[in-house]
Amino acid sequence: MRFFIDTADLDEIREALSWGCLAGVTTNPSLYARTGGALADFEGHMLKICEMCEGLPVSVESQAKTVEDMVADGRRLAALAPNVVVKLPICAESLAATHQLASEGVRVNMTLVFTATQALLAANAGARYISPFVGRFDDIAEDGVSQLADVVACIGNDDWSGRNVDDRVEIIAASIRTPNHVTQAALLGADIATVPFGALKKCLRHPLTDQGMASFDADWAKVTSAR
Ligand code: E4P
Repeated sequence: MRFFIDTADLDEIREALSWGCLAGVTTNPSLYARTGGALADFEGHMLKICEMCEGLPVSVESQAKTVEDMVADGRRLAALAPNVVVKLPICAESLAATHQLASEGVRVNMTLVFTATQALLAANAGARYISPFVGRFDDIAEDGVSQLADVVACIGNDDWSGRNVDDRVEIIAASIRTPNHVTQAALLGADIATVPFGALKKCLRHPLTDQGMASFDADWAKVTSAR
């Protein structure tokens, strides 16, 4: 399973990229709002992310509401940089727009997916990525991991060949809150987890690792000071 970072913050993306284990970025309107950016700067900001990521897929979300506007927006966003993936929230209009965009070679990440049936509709419409949300189920005391399991199983039952221009469909476990969500997503066979920077840092650290490093340092100091 690969890691995407779920943020629009340039510093977070830069630092996560420096770790050498990042395979892409996902953004959404809330994450962009959090950067304090204005509408006029939106596309410039997304372009900066695309350039920093040097070809890695960057999901940029459209706020269009009609099929025509989604298609037009999708084409415009995709023209920003070759690594743009157009992100659309699942609904009747976005399925139609995805079908059209996919036939033109534009990659779509279908977001706000909560059920296996939504995921199946998105895959049939031609979505390149499907983003089932995990944490938002847990937020309302439901089990996000078991919903993700249904999505992975249903999508995995088909090879999706002959669908659209791009036969591949990958599942991005989204709305990740904890390292345990990441582990469960990998165990279930999700292709990617998109993880906020805070949760990514939690995935890296463990108190026993810190303890182990401290004791190796202390013992090595004995070695280097011995005559
Ligand atoms: C998906 O790509 C979304 O950006 C994201 O994972 C939403 O997660 P949230 O529930 O933390 O807002």
